[in-house]
Amino acid sequence: MIEYPIGHLVEAGVRDVGVVVGYLGHLITGYLGDGSRYGARFTYIRQGERLGIAHAIHLAVEEGFVDGPFVVYLGDNILAGGVRGFLERFLEEEPDVLILLSRVRDPGRFGVAVVRDGRVVRLVEKPREPPSNLALIGVYFFRDPDLVERAFTALKPSWRGEYEVTDLIQWFIDNGYRVDYDVVNGWWKDVGTPEGLLEAIYLLLDESKPRIDGEVAGEVVGRVIVEEGAVVEGRVYGPAYIGRGARIGGEAAVEHYVSIESGSRVLSGSISRSLIMSDSVIDVKRLRLVDSVVGQGSIVRASREIHGEIRLAISNYSRVEI
Ligand code: G1P
Repeated sequence: MIEYPIGHLVEAGVRDVGVVVGYLGHLITGYLGDGSRYGARFTYIRQGERLGIAHAIHLAVEEGFVDGPFVVYLGDNILAGGVRGFLERFLEEEPDVLILLSRVRDPGRFGVAVVRDGRVVRLVEKPREPPSNLALIGVYFFRDPDLVERAFTALKPSWRGEYEVTDLIQWFIDNGYRVDYDVVNGWWKDVGTPEGLLEAIYLLLDESKPRIDGEVAGEVVGRVIVEEGAVVEGRVYGPAYIGRGARIGGEAAVEHYVSIESGSRVLSGSISRSLIMSDSVIDVKRLRLVDSVVGQGSIVRASREIHGEIRLAISNYSRVEI
C-alpha cells in the first residue's frame, strides 16, 4: 500500500521522503529500508503518540526534516495518476497551501471542504451533516514550514484526541493565507477499511497489464499476472494477480478481481473479488470466498464439503476453521 504513495512522490521528482512511523513502526522501517530501492532517501520520524496528522507534520518540521515547500501524502491513500501535475502547479503558482478534493458519496468519513466562488471557505473533519460532497484527499502541499508551525501552535486536539490536518489548513484560511484547491476527476481511494482496500485492488487490477512469468499447468483466462515462481495448477480468470511463489492448486479457482500475494497457497475452493495477503493458505473445499480480505500468514480451512459463499475480513496470522 505504502509503495504507491512513495512511487508517486518519486515519479514527481521528490527524492527526500520523511516517513512518519508510530505503532509497529519497525515493520515499516524494516520493509522500506533507506529508500535507495525506490530511488529516494528516507528519513524516519517517530511519532510516539497517535496525535494526528497535523502533529506528524509538526514533528517533521520541528526535527528539521522540512525546511522549504513540501508535500504530505498519507500512506493509506492511493491517488490514481500520482501527484506530479499537482506538484508542478503548486511550485508554479506558489499558494500557501494546495489541497485536493474528490466528490464522494460518503463525505462524512473524511475531511469535507466548502467551496464558494472558487475559494475554499471552510474545512470540517468527519462532519455528521456534511456541508458538501467534496472530500479532502490525503495529499497536501505547504509552501512555508514556519507558517505550518504557527498554525500548529494554535491548534487544539479534536474530539478524537488528534491534531487534525483539516484544522491546520483552516488556520491558513482564517488568517487570510492563500489556500488553493483542485477537484480531482480520476479515482482516489482511502484504503483504511477492508472495503476501501478491496475497491483499490479492483481499480488497480483494472489497470494491470497481463504477464505470465510463473508456471501455468492449469488454465489462465483474461488479464492475469502470474509472477515468477508462482504455479497455477487450477483455474485463474482475470483480472487477477498471482504473486511470487504463490500456488493455485488443481482443485482451486480464482475468479475475477482477486489478488493473491506472494507465497500464498489456494489449495481448494473458489475466490472472487478478494485480497489474500502473503503467505496465507486457503483450503475451503466447495466454498466460495467473496469480497474478502485475508491478512498475511492466515489459514482459512473448511473441514468438510460445504457449499455456499463466505465473506471474511481477517487480520494477519488469523485462523478460520469452517
Ligand atoms: C484523514 C484526514 C481526512 C482526510 C482523510 C483522507 O482521515 O483527517 O481529513 O479526508 O485522511 O484519507 P483519517 O484517515 O485520519 O481518518
